[in-house]
Amino acid sequence: MINQETIQRIMDATRIEEVIGEFVTMKRRGTNYIGCCPFHNEKTPSFSVSPAKGIYKCFGCGESGNAVGFLMKHEHYTYPEALRWLAKKYNVEVEEEKMSEEQIEKNNERDALFHVSEFAQQYFSSLLYEDEMGSAIGLGYFHSRGLTDKVIKDFGLGYCLEQWDNFTSYARKNGYSDNVLQKTGLTIFKDDGKSYDRFRGRVMFPIYSVSGRVLGFSGRILSKEKQAAKYVNSPDSEIYNKSNILYGLYQAKNAITKADKCYLVEGNIDVISMYQSGVENTVASCGTSLTTEQVKLIRRYTKNVTVLYDGDNAGIKAAFRAVNMLFEEGMHVRVVLFPEGEDPDSYAQKNGSTKLQEYLKENETNFVLFKTKVLADDIKGDPIRKAEVLSEIVRTIALVGDLLERTEYVKQCASVLHLPEETLQNEVAKALNRKLYDNINQKPDPNDKDLKENVEGVSETALEEEARREHVAPFSLNPAQSQEMKIVKLLLNYGSELISLEVEDDAGNKENNEYTVAQVVVNDVLADQITFEDPVCQTIFNEYARQIENGGTYVNPQRFVEYEDKSVREAAITMMMDDYHVSDNWSEKKHIYVPKPEERLRKDVEESLLTFKLKKLEIKINDIDRQFSYLTDDTEKLMLMAQKMNYLKIKQKLGCALNRVIT
Ligand code: CTP
Ligand code: MN
Repeated sequence: MINQETIQRIMDATRIEEVIGEFVTMKRRGTNYIGCCPFHNEKTPSFSVSPAKGIYKCFGCGESGNAVGFLMKHEHYTYPEALRWLAKKYNVEVEEEKMSEEQIEKNNERDALFHVSEFAQQYFSSLLYEDEMGSAIGLGYFHSRGLTDKVIKDFGLGYCLEQWDNFTSYARKNGYSDNVLQKTGLTIFKDDGKSYDRFRGRVMFPIYSVSGRVLGFSGRILSKEKQAAKYVNSPDSEIYNKSNILYGLYQAKNAITKADKCYLVEGNIDVISMYQSGVENTVASCGTSLTTEQVKLIRRYTKNVTVLYDGDNAGIKAAFRAVNMLFEEGMHVRVVLFPEGEDPDSYAQKNGSTKLQEYLKENETNFVLFKTKVLADDIKGDPIRKAEVLSEIVRTIALVGDLLERTEYVKQCASVLHLPEETLQNEVAKALNRKLYDNINQKPDPNDKDLKENVEGVSETALEEEARREHVAPFSLNPAQSQEMKIVKLLLNYGSELISLEVEDDAGNKENNEYTVAQVVVNDVLADQITFEDPVCQTIFNEYARQIENGGTYVNPQRFVEYEDKSVREAAITMMMDDYHVSDNWSEKKHIYVPKPEERLRKDVEESLLTFKLKKLEIKINDIDRQFSYLTDDTEKLMLMAQKMNYLKIKQKLGCALNRVIT
């Protein structure tokens, strides 16, 4: 564990442009550096690095982050690995955190679990070659399935003898405690005090972490008895969590990077067979349906996934759901369907590696088209089913992030479903807008005209293009929200700067005091009890408000670059990267000459706050007008009128104040 101070020293020493400069050729442009994005293919540079802010962002593919994030993404480092890389580059001495008793104990236990797993793996695999029974039964089995000694070694395969506690007693003799044997699940303890080997009589597939540590096991039964499960897996433990592990990733990761592609299969044996046939970039989600964590693991190495389906897989349709998740994580998904009754392993064993590789190449299709064809098969002239299928396909296409890819899918699927392209295109646009709409407002008010016009009136492509041009995420396109964004941009980019304001003390004496922009903005917004519509803006604002209320003067925007919530992180970086300069705004746009930078900033803050409030007020007034038309009760009408008059008065005041500021 690297301690907090060291992390700070590393971050202070880090120059993002130097770090990224080691991997990307960049040119200086203004205060930023610009180059071709290393995370997607492009010819014109849209990858931008801000030395001042310590962040990068690609306006083409949206990747963004700080120097640590860049190293994690580009070099596939873990967080501590990235920090150590930077520490080395900048000669920062790394101080390890002193751990508490409790942490030490927990770490010791984790270590013990790692040790016993490693020990078990060694023992199980030694039995294959050093024990008579192990060799006859275990090794015999693997050979009968066509596996070579090389892959048996590469995957650390083994055998657990068909005895009650052969492994458990051997482990005890070697000093391993019942506690770790129980926690790893290697030994099962009964209430009556008896204990026995969980995996007795099974061939063993160790499950490795990305860095090659043994975390757990999957054991396959040899006999054909029906009552026992074919595979038994380690239970979840301190070191093993089946939903964020991929079988074979340790052996596959280099090949995945090299091929820029990952094959996803269903079984352990499929992974090993593919590997033996020269298709080393293969992983399996062992026995669980694919999870987000697993997809993120793959994404560290590639964005391209090809899912291989067994030919007899009745669950193909159920598995479609898992694939939607791949799209949600921005992956490009393709699929290969194996012939009836075959899985990748049986196909490879039957036909050999050349045929397998040919089969993969020739039968790979894009997933959306595949799904459409499978679903189209059961429409059989039923119009209701057809509508269901259509909406299912539309939902999937809408998950595809890439515009060109999506357009291609629309074309192909329209042809399979015998629909005009425009019809499908319209449905997809609608689905995208719905998504956008949900993003803008978690609980959208269906009557909100402002929102509706903005969301439903514009087609997706136009929205996207607009977003690209504006260098902002699509969710910022609502005009009320662009005011919110402006407030948040001020906080992020100018929060710590000082401006002087005239204030009146209790005795009525006026004097000029200096405040940070963050203090002014937060106090002003809180005083009027204004809330933000955009949850991301609200979250960022809340962080500032908390800091200011606790006596702070601003928040370091780096806080948001590493924020836990991805949407906050990405929006903050986008707003920090946006080329918004206070000075341009005042001298060019409004043809007003404001000499001192501090003065310009003050005016800008005041204008933004006033405009923000005006916008909020207009929404409230519109609201009243709408309610008014529904009301029949005269007293209620009068009350609403009074309220509206009140708002109009405030609006006028705000308008005057705004005029004073901008003239
Ligand atoms: N699986 C499991 N528990 C089971 C059955 C299956 O965890 N009771 C998981 C295993 O990871 C297995 C995968 O699901 O590898 C696919 O199962 P299946 O297709 O039945 O097995 P195969 O991999 O084809 O294994 P084999 O070829 O050895 O029969
Ligand atoms: Mn199989």
